Amino acid sequence: MEIRLVAGAGFCFGVKRAVDTVYEQIQTGKTIYTYGSIVNNEVVVRELAEQGVRVIESREELEKLPDATAGTIIIRAHGVPWEVQQQMERKGWEIIDATCPFVKRIHRTVEKKSSQGEHILVVGSPEHPEIQGIVGWCNGPVEVLETVEEAQKYVPPEGKRLTVVAQTTFNYNKFQHIVEILKKKGYNVSIVNTICKATEDRQRETQEVAANADAMIVIGGKHSSNATKLYEICREVCDNTYFIQTLDDLHLELPKSARLVGITAGASTPNKLIEEVQNYVRINF
Ligand code: F3S
Repeated sequence: MEIRLVAGAGFCFGVKRAVDTVYEQIQTGKTIYTYGSIVNNEVVVRELAEQGVRVIESREELEKLPDATAGTIIIRAHGVPWEVQQQMERKGWEIIDATCPFVKRIHRTVEKKSSQGEHILVVGSPEHPEIQGIVGWCNGPVEVLETVEEAQKYVPPEGKRLTVVAQTTFNYNKFQHIVEILKKKGYNVSIVNTICKATEDRQRETQEVAANADAMIVIGGKHSSNATKLYEICREVCDNTYFIQTLDDLHLELPKSARLVGITAGASTPNKLIEEVQNYVRINF
């Protein structure tokens, strides 16, 4: 029986970079804080907590920290609003910015365009920390919209040039649809496609493997939206799909005729966990 691991499974470039940064900083022996969980995976967060890494959940919590002690704050891949970064600087802590370079590029774009007087429209989920970060780098009016219906109703301020950017993990087809709607309205709009290909590639590769697999194992956090999406993609083409957080959740039952088991994982799943699952299937089936 063959086990096929989806090529883009697990940490994307930006998340891996941020997590590696935390592990590097642990070695310095300083007190390490991350602003928000470094990754949307309870196993990783618990492991880091055991090594002394603390998570700051809010600006209020940040404010309560003592000033300028021997500690470091790491900004995660999603980035933070400009205001939050300023708050960190005021406290005099060492700041390590592990914002994904692709997200940082969006910050720079919106900062520049809004300074030039353009109106910024961000396509994405308003509650998502990445979007809150992007909004926080605008130097002028900014709006967020997420759905096709919202795009249809949207009326920008008169006479303003509009710059549109997207959440890096936004669905490409939906973004195109929204862009078409805005263009048809005849606005003076400049589109910057900021969707990151990591998510799209992972989804496509997962679909390809699942379409031929007798069973599919999706590894990811319960609350991870991208892992849930992978699960849905697999379920559509492979009835025998398992969604697990850790190896303990896996109760795999394979028909005797099974020839191919596929494994995929959300962007917050560490390699170690993927390897464990892979080894388990290899040894037991
Ligand atoms: Fe960066 Fe793309 Fe991951 S924007 S954080 S590499 S999904």
